[in-house]
Amino acid sequence: MDRFIINGGNRLKGKVVVEGVKNVILPMMCAALMADEGVTVLKNIPKLRDIKVLQMLMAELGAESSYDERERSLTINAARLDRFVVPYELVKQMRASFLLAGALLGRFGEFHISLPGGCAIGARPVNFHLSGFKKLGAEVFEEGGLLGAKTTRLAGATICLDYPSHTGTENLMMAAVLAEGRTIIDNAACEPEIRDFGDFLKAMGANISGQGSPTIIIDGVGKLKAVTYTPIPDRIVAGTFMCAAAVTSGEIEIENVDERDIRIVMEKLINMGVVFEKKPGGNILVKGPERLSAIDITTTPYPGFPTDLQPMIMTCLSCADGVSLIRETVFENRFVNAAELNRMGAYIRVAADKAVVVGVGRLNGAPVMASDLRAGAALVLAGLRAQGTTTVDRVYHIDRGYENLENRLQALGADIIRGVDSG
Ligand code: EPU
Repeated sequence: MDRFIINGGNRLKGKVVVEGVKNVILPMMCAALMADEGVTVLKNIPKLRDIKVLQMLMAELGAESSYDERERSLTINAARLDRFVVPYELVKQMRASFLLAGALLGRFGEFHISLPGGCAIGARPVNFHLSGFKKLGAEVFEEGGLLGAKTTRLAGATICLDYPSHTGTENLMMAAVLAEGRTIIDNAACEPEIRDFGDFLKAMGANISGQGSPTIIIDGVGKLKAVTYTPIPDRIVAGTFMCAAAVTSGEIEIENVDERDIRIVMEKLINMGVVFEKKPGGNILVKGPERLSAIDITTTPYPGFPTDLQPMIMTCLSCADGVSLIRETVFENRFVNAAELNRMGAYIRVAADKAVVVGVGRLNGAPVMASDLRAGAALVLAGLRAQGTTTVDRVYHIDRGYENLENRLQALGADIIRGVDSG
C-alpha cells in the first residue's frame, strides 16, 4: 500500500487545473449503458481509481470502455451489454457502483446487485432508491446478499424523497427516463452534479426539466442515444486546493472552476481571512492569510456547505485564531479525522454531530492514516501545514478521487513524495 511522506511548512504557490467531477462522471458512465448502440465519449476525465473500478464492473456486464490518458477521454460502447448481475468483489470497492441499478432497470427492467454495505463515513442505506424504484413499478427483493428489482414495464410516478439523496436522485432519474409517462421527483438533490447529469441525459435524448432544482420532471422516451459530453469541473477538488492555499498561507491560481457551484465555500473562506481574485478568463487566485480566523459551519445538501469539504475546513480551522464549531448533518461518522489531527497537536472535541475546534498555533508532523477519500485529503493538508514530517497511510483512498495529488502539490512547491507503506 502506498503512503505520502510530507515535510510541511512550505507556502504553496502556482497554478492548478481542475478536472471533470468524479461524482457526475460515475453516473454518466452508468447512464451510457442505457444507449444500446453507438459510442459515448466523456471528455476531461481524470485518471481515478473509482473510474477504473466502474470500468471493470461494466466489462463484467458486457460493455466495452477505454480510457485514453493523453486525450483524457473515456469511451463507452454498451451495444453488447447483456448481463444485469453485478458481482460483490467490485461493488465492495466502491459504493457508487449502486448507480448501475437505475441504468440496468431502465435498460432491461431488471438488476441484481450486491448490497453496498456501510463505509467509513456512515451506514449509507439505499432505501430511498429502492422505494423510488417500487413507485416506478419494479418489484424489489433481496436474496443471497443481492438486492434485486424486476419489472415488465416501468411507469412514471410521483416520488417524494424523504431526503435529497444525491445518488438516489440520479438512480431514479435513470430509471425514469425510459419509463412510460411522466415522473416527478420531489425533494430531489440540487447539487451542480445533478444539474449536469440532467443535461447529459437530455443530450442523450431524455425529456427532462428542473434538474438542479428540488422538482425534476421527466417524460419517458423510447430510446437514448450515445453522445459526446464534457462534465463540469470538480468543485470539491477546487475547494481542496482553496483550502491548501488557506492552510499554507499560499497563493494558488485555480483554472476550470465554476464560482457559482462553490460560492458558500468561498464565502466561508473569506470569513476566515482568505482573499480571492478573479482573473481575466475566469481563473480564481486564492491567497491564504498569515493566520486564519475561526468560523462556524454546518454541512447540508447543496446549496449549503458540502460535507465533502468539511474535513479540509476542519484542518484549516485547527490552526485558526479562536474557537470554531462544525456541525455535520449529512453523514453520521465524518469526524474520524479529528483524532488524527489531535495526534498532530490539534485540539478538537467531538460530541455526536458537533465538533469544537480550538485553533492552535502549530501542527506537528506525525504518522496518520486516511480513513476515506476526503479525510485523506484533509490529512495531506494538515501535513503541508505541520512542522516536521507527516506520513499519510492508505493513500489508495485519496487516489479514488484526486488525480496525481502528490505531483500537483509538488508543482506548487510542496515537499511530498509517494512511498510504500510497510504495514
Ligand atoms: N440516505 C439514506 N437512505 C438512502 C440514501 C441516503 O438514509 O437511500 C442518507 C445517507 O445515509 C446520508 C444522507 O442520506 O446520511 C445523504 O446521502 P446521499 O444519498 O445524498 O449521499 P450519496 O449519494 O451516497 C453522494 C456522493 C458523496 C457525497 C454525498 C453528499 C457520489 C458517488 N457520492 O453520496 O461523495 O458526500 O453525495 O453530497 O456522488 C465523496 O465524493 O467523497 C463522497 C462521499
